[in-house]
This record gives sequence, structure tokens and C-alpha cells, in this order.
Amino acid sequence: MKVCKIFVPPDKSISHRAIMLASLSEGVTRIKNLLMGDDCLRTIAAFRAMGVDIRIERQETRDNGAEVIVRGVGMRGLKKPRRALYLGNSGTTMRILPGILAGQNFQVVLKGDRSLSRRPMSRIAIPIRRMGAEILSASNKRRAMSNETFPPLKIQGGKLKPLRYKSKIASAQVKSCILLAGLFAKGVTSVTEPVRSRDHTERMLEQFDCRLKIQGLSVSLKGPVKLKSPGAIKIPADISSAAFFIVVGSILPKTKIIIRDVGLNPTRTGVLDILKRMGADISVRRQVSGVRDGESCGDIIVKSSKLKGVAISPKEAVRAIDEIPIVMVAACLAKGKTIIRGAGELRVKETDRIKSMVTNLRKLGADIRVASQQRIVINGGRPLRGSRVSSFGDHRTAMSMLIAGMVTKGKVTVTDLSCINKSFPGFEKLLKYTF
Ligand code: S3P
Repeated sequence: MKVCKIFVPPDKSISHRAIMLASLSEGVTRIKNLLMGDDCLRTIAAFRAMGVDIRIERQETRDNGAEVIVRGVGMRGLKKPRRALYLGNSGTTMRILPGILAGQNFQVVLKGDRSLSRRPMSRIAIPIRRMGAEILSASNKRRAMSNETFPPLKIQGGKLKPLRYKSKIASAQVKSCILLAGLFAKGVTSVTEPVRSRDHTERMLEQFDCRLKIQGLSVSLKGPVKLKSPGAIKIPADISSAAFFIVVGSILPKTKIIIRDVGLNPTRTGVLDILKRMGADISVRRQVSGVRDGESCGDIIVKSSKLKGVAISPKEAVRAIDEIPIVMVAACLAKGKTIIRGAGELRVKETDRIKSMVTNLRKLGADIRVASQQRIVINGGRPLRGSRVSSFGDHRTAMSMLIAGMVTKGKVTVTDLSCINKSFPGFEKLLKYTF
């Protein structure tokens, strides 16, 4: 039996929020284990461009986490940047930052790369406009093409009104954007979702001394709020990054993998529940509830197993939305049929992940198709073959296909792998070094 102990990078969602809230707060925050991936570096650069002193002190090579010191400027202390803020490929920054900018007294333009410039922004623009800020698609060409709002976004902040918002989609980015804008508005701002999305913003706001009320699928806060730094925050490893190795540990024979200090927030552990139902041998040890970051974490232990197909409900899909691509790989190798429902949001990620994964897995010989209402149907158990596939510029597609390539007969070549640096710098090295 091959036993490996590994560290995967810090949580991307929590890292973005840590930079944002620390920047807005009063006091100095020492963030331990912040992800040094491309997207989080964009968030750091954006806040530096608005006058926040952010110092990267020490960087770990084993997981690309760094200790970062942020000197908060307070709720109204951000300065108008000298030029447009370029956010690269970071959808989370593009969708959450406008909530903060809506409460500032200046105008700013947010730009992204080609893929980000195609991602829909009405989901945040509509509620933020209702709160009183202006958000426009800064590109006339794109605006003329549809009713959607696309980046670049021109945002004019100002005095905000509170909002009670019922969201049609379960999206943590939408919820976070509105709640952050709500910090600046006098009165109660609330967001109600159809299914509960990840709650890192809520947990971290509490760490920064903001009271929230959570009732069923609604979360509310009463503004205006002044955030106070808790002094230090420690970020756990990213369960979305761990997921690739959880699947490797399950599908390779005679293997045991221990993944250290992984975030186990219940709004993110859908992938563990799905894989366990598929028959994976997964256990958790040394679980602790975070005192400094409001999150819980623990070691995940996974051993080889025989997987079987399952039905995945929309509710479960929300709790595993970023892990669906690697679950698709697991399903292709599992015995029997897997049906994934409620994964339509995958169409508007860094790429259309339903299309990218279905195209790529078919090239490997998998029996996978999209049925009515965006249902993904996979008849697993066929042997997979080598092929040349594309990442489509999407980190999770790239890593999922590299994992599939570990069990194919023949080599899988994935083109354009630089996108992996978005969430998992060093992924290929870790894979090579571990196996
Ligand atoms: C994220 C929320 C999710 C997720 C994304 C990160 C976040 O997106 O897919 O990778 O950090 O809030 P949605 O809010 O669009 O569901």
C-alpha cells in the first residue's frame, strides 16, 4: 500500500474575503496561510491600488500559502485608484468587490481578461443598482449585444439604501456582494437564496465584529457597520483543491492519501458526501472548529475503493459546485449510471464546464451526455483511453483531465495548463512527486 501525506493550497474563496475585510477594517490583520494563486494576487493588487498597505511576509513552498499583513483603512478609507483595476481571470473579485465599491465616494472601472469579460454580471449589477450605486457595462459593443451586463464594469459608488433581496440563483458571490454593500447602508439588508450557498463571508464578517442574523435561507445584517480586525486569521486548505487528490486516492489501487488541514465548512463538503455515497473510503481526523477564522478544518484520509454511480440532487450540486468536474471523472470510472442535476451554473464558470468536460471525457471514450434540463448522464465503467484534450483555459477542467489521465490506457495530453495557477500553483509537481 502506498501511503502519502500531502498539503494542498489554502482556500481561494476564504483568501479573497480575508484580503477584502482586512482592508476595510480598523486595525492590522495578520493573515496566515493566504493563497498565493493568480486570482488572490489580483485582489491584493486591487486593494493596494486603492491605497491599502498589504505586505507578503513569508511564503511556504509546500502549499503556496503566505503570511500576509494588511493595515486596514476603515470603511471609507479606500482611495480612488489612478487607473482601471485589472482583475485578470478572477470572477470572485469581479463579483464581490462591486459591493464594497458601491459604498465608496469615487468612480472606478473593473476590467478582466477575455474569459472574465464574457461572464454575466447582471446578477450583482441589478441588486447593487437598486441599493443606489451605478454599475454600467463599460463596453458598448458587448452591451449592444444583449441585456446582460458584462465587464468591464464602471462603478460609481455613493450613498446606499438597504435592500431585501430574493435571489433566483444560489450564489455566494451574489450574496457576498449584497451583504458587503449592506455594510454601508443604514438599515437591514438581507439576502434569501433558493439553496444555501457557501457562507464564508458570513463567518468572516462575524470574525470582524459584524452581527448577522441567519434564518433558514436568509441572512441579514443591520448597517452601517464598522469592521474591526480580529488581529489574526488562519485559512484552511481548499477542499476544492483537495477534491482532485480525494478522487486520485479512491481510483488508484493500493493507495492511502492523507490531506492535511482541509477546510470542512458544511456548505462546501458536498463532494465528500457524494463520493462517500459512490463508495469512496473517506474519513476525517483531527477535526477542529476554527476559533480564529470561524471555519472548521481537519485531515482527510482516503483509501482505494470501488466506486459506483449515484444520483446527485441540485441541493447537493450547490455544495459541490466547483468539484462537479472531478466528480464527472470519478463517475466515468464508477460502475453504473450517475445523474447530476442542478449543475446549470457550470455553464457560466471560467469556461462552460459542462461543455468542456463532456467534450474532453468523450474524447477519452467515456459515455457521457447532457440530457434535458441540463442533466448530465454518465454511464460509468468503460475503460478510458489516451487523447489530446484542452483545458479551455479553465483550471478545474485542466486538473480534472490530468487526473483522468492517471488511469487511462495511453497518454492524456492537456493543452494550456498555465490556468492551474489560479487556484493550485504546483499541482503538476505535487501529482508527479506523490505518484
Ligand atoms: C465562489 C462562489 C462560487 C464558486 C466560485 C467561488 C466564492 O460561485 O463557484 O468558484 O468564492 O464566492 P457562485 O457564487 O457563482 O456560485
